[in-house]
Amino acid sequence: MHATAPVNGYELGTPLPGPMAKGRVPKRTLARPETCGECHVQELVKWEASYRPTAFSNSFVQAQYALVWAKAKAEGTGDALPASCLACHSPARYLAGELPAPGSPEAVRGDLGITCDFCHSTWGYDGDGPGASNWVFRKGGNRMGPEIASAVGTRRWNRSPELCGTCHDERGPGSQWVKASYIEWKAGPSVKDAKKGCLDCHTFSRQHLDGLIAGAASLVIHPPKAGVRAGQRVSIAVDVRNEKAGHPMPGSSNELRQLWLHVEALDTHGKVHPLSVQPKGIPGEEATIGSDALAYQDAGELSGEANFAGLARDGEGIAPGDRLFRLPMYDAKGRMTAFEWNAASIGNDYRLPARETVAEIFLLNFPADFPQGPLALRATLRYRRVPPALWAYLKLPKDGNPSILVTQAVGTLTVLPSSP
Ligand code: HEC
Ligand code: HEC
Ligand code: HEC
Ligand code: HEC
Ligand code: HEC
Repeated sequence: MHATAPVNGYELGTPLPGPMAKGRVPKRTLARPETCGECHVQELVKWEASYRPTAFSNSFVQAQYALVWAKAKAEGTGDALPASCLACHSPARYLAGELPAPGSPEAVRGDLGITCDFCHSTWGYDGDGPGASNWVFRKGGNRMGPEIASAVGTRRWNRSPELCGTCHDERGPGSQWVKASYIEWKAGPSVKDAKKGCLDCHTFSRQHLDGLIAGAASLVIHPPKAGVRAGQRVSIAVDVRNEKAGHPMPGSSNELRQLWLHVEALDTHGKVHPLSVQPKGIPGEEATIGSDALAYQDAGELSGEANFAGLARDGEGIAPGDRLFRLPMYDAKGRMTAFEWNAASIGNDYRLPARETVAEIFLLNFPADFPQGPLALRATLRYRRVPPALWAYLKLPKDGNPSILVTQAVGTLTVLPSSP
């Protein structure tokens, strides 16, 4: 059923490991998705509705790709960095050695992203484990790939989490892992307890992912059992648990994702009192506590703005004193960066590990004249893909970066008169 004759001089069947594949396969060796879709109608419909056709052409990736070009030019490092983006975001282009300019018609309207024929012509990975685009390309032969020894037992290559790992684990400039969903998943309870692979939880759609994020974690508030007195400082324990993700939460693009816990109290007069998290004294803790700090100076500098002060690190919706669960990254000048390809170092990992509970304490200072009676407590966990100030700076679609409610919990407390 599938063609096996040589195409454009490329000898079909020659295995090409990802990093060595650049420019080795003639243009148009891979079929266009519509061609596969003539017979696989359902698969084409699913592909069109997924992130895959726009994995390179979407405006956020293009905005970053433009900064990558600026960086390569400023540092005189040639094509290597921009081409590396294509190995995962537009692999057919990478195989053909094409490097479309950011925002050009070829990059924006003419790109096909991650195509059928690419995934179904990969054959395994090169090296000790999948990651850093080390997929092996081998046109021709079995479309689901050979059987491989996967972390979840023997599987056809295309059904294995290892296929996902070739792109979902990525090395930054210092060769540290900046994305590590596969490594993290492999070390976690999904493999040990349940043998659940990526596709047991995921599809390829953003909508489905947003649905997974809502409800992925749980919250419990433990208000003090005895009443508290006005004039005192009260601590409220809140437990946060990653219930559903097979890896730390937020997963994947750690340099960008925001996951934050806000706790507030509502008194009998209807007034809202925000609480602040009690610091634990962990390394680099300031990155995990909501503040009005500036960051992402590299975005302005790479855009050619001299003396760029920076952008709001946390932004709208995140209050001072909220707890952020994140794995921050820093540029060569030690400032927080939202670009993994510009990360010189990685900070302390303060995400929610899979199936673990993280305990937090939140503090509230009661003035002596605080109204007596019941005090309603509310804890809210929210997720957002990108820091809003960066989203706006890159001029991305206004409603394209909403925050998602992950979960909420409530409790009550009784406020007694200040002296017994
Ligand atoms: C002319 C119709 C036709 C076209 C075009 C076509 N296929 Fe298929 N494909 C089939 C049929 C029929 C089967 C089931 C029989 C078989 O395994 O060969 C199949 C099977 C498959 C399978 C499952 C194999 C397995 O082992 O379960 C995959 C994956 C696949 N095709 C991918 C593709 C891709 C990618 C393209 C485009 C490059 C493509 N097909 C183009 C007809 C087609
Ligand atoms: C090893 C594979 C790999 C390489 C190399 C790579 N990426 Fe990615 N990139 C990914 C994956 C996988 C995701 C999706 C992760 C997620 O959903 O959190 C992603 C996500 C992104 C996002 C965020 C998209 C969003 O929706 O939030 C941007 C922007 C991006 N990449 C740009 C780049 C640029 C620019 C380069 C080149 C310097 C690059 N990537 C290199 C695999 C890669
Ligand atoms: C990101 C890589 C990727 C891309 C792109 C991709 N597929 Fe697949 N395909 C997979 C994986 C993974 C599976 C196994 C899914 C599963 O077991 O649920 C699969 C399964 C299939 C199957 C077999 C279904 C079955 O139940 O046996 C067919 C046929 C297929 N794909 C065709 C296509 C076509 C046609 C396109 C493009 C329109 C496409 N694929 C794009 C990764 C991909
Ligand atoms: C060829 C590289 C590649 C392979 C193989 C791959 N992905 Fe991705 N994946 C990406 C890139 C690039 C993005 C980011 C696309 C974007 O932001 O537009 C992404 C995004 C995602 C997302 C986030 C969806 C979204 O809309 O933001 C999920 C979930 C995902 N991939 C799951 C998988 C799973 C599961 C597999 C294995 C079956 C897999 N991917 C295989 C490159 C790949
Ligand atoms: C037990 C279910 C489960 C398994 C197994 C699992 N995931 Fe996830 N994944 C989730 C849930 C739930 C979320 C949403 C919460 C979050 O962002 O962490 C998620 C989020 C993600 C995201 C999006 C992160 C973002 O914010 O854009 C990516 C990409 C991803 N997973 C990739 C993978 C890959 C690759 C594998 C396999 C190596 C995998 N996942 C295994 C449940 C799972």
